[in-house]
Amino acid sequence: MALEDTLRLFSDETRLRLAHLLADEPCTVAELQEALDLGQSSVSGHLAKLKSAGLIHDVAEGSARRYRLRADLSEDLSAAWTAIRTLANSDPRLGADRTRLQQVLAARGADWVDRVAGSLHREYAPGRTWDSLCHGLLAFARFGRCVDVGAGDGALVELLAPRATTLVCVDPTPAMVGAGKARVAALGLNNTTWHQAPGEALPLADASADSVLFLQSLQYIPKPAAALAEARRVLAPGGRLLVVTLVQHDHAEADRYGHRHRGFAEADLRSWCKGLRDLHVDLLPPETRPPRFQTIICTGTAP
Ligand SMILES: C[S@@+](CC[C@H](N)C(=O)[O-])C[C@H]1O[C@@H](n2cnc3c(N)ncnc32)[C@H](O)[C@@H]1O
Repeated sequence: MALEDTLRLFSDETRLRLAHLLADEPCTVAELQEALDLGQSSVSGHLAKLKSAGLIHDVAEGSARRYRLRADLSEDLSAAWTAIRTLANSDPRLGADRTRLQQVLAARGADWVDRVAGSLHREYAPGRTWDSLCHGLLAFARFGRCVDVGAGDGALVELLAPRATTLVCVDPTPAMVGAGKARVAALGLNNTTWHQAPGEALPLADASADSVLFLQSLQYIPKPAAALAEARRVLAPGGRLLVVTLVQHDHAEADRYGHRHRGFAEADLRSWCKGLRDLHVDLLPPETRPPRFQTIICTGTAP
């Protein structure tokens, strides 16, 4: 950035005030407007200039965007900014802006839950990820004598084993079973065993399981109908089946992951699970990233 451009960037009082606030605290346009008592177009216009100069950047946060000072300033900009920050740090007007921003942020925190009511699903809240919520909800789960068909390398044993009386992981791929056994040993799980076998021929006795799970594995199984018939055979009366797989699709990308089937139609899953009671099939919303795979969940109970 040329010297005159740098000097012009910092020659505007509003831009200086904004930059100083953002150096202390990442903020939204609305928070900056309120703290500096300025209009939206003025704040947005100056933010755009600071951003195109490379001093700040913004990230999406729910329905808003939050601006912050870049951590990776160019050498020249970093030198100029450090000098200006030092010179201006004791300016009482900037001190007053800072105090006002803290008041605005405190007030916005206090009424956050009121403001996001009705749009909470679009808002970021610390720690409120699908992952953490699923971990929490799993605390209520009881899998009893559990069979995980197509268990892979046991990435989920850590979640399943503590909620199962026994966990039997079944997978036909030797490398997966080897990695899974190593994981179970490292975690010290003594209720978990492995079988190298296909889902179409489970090496387990009739009516010996309280739950049978297929967690994104059915699309890998050459004969899915046969595997679900096996699941029904090993389920004890009252035992539950959970199939999490993909909805029928036409995305060639799936071939890269070794899928044998491009998902399944709801009607197929229903017919393969015939005989189970309380059969439910739910479709999740398509993934946000292309090609937007969609998950289908099928649950039922053995009579
Ligand atoms: C994507 S991995 C899923 C692993 C695990 N369920 C998870 O969610 O982390 C699919 C697994 O299906 C297994 N698989 C392939 N053919 C199978 C079959 N005939 N019966 C059971 N599993 C099979 C593969 O070896 C692979 O480990």
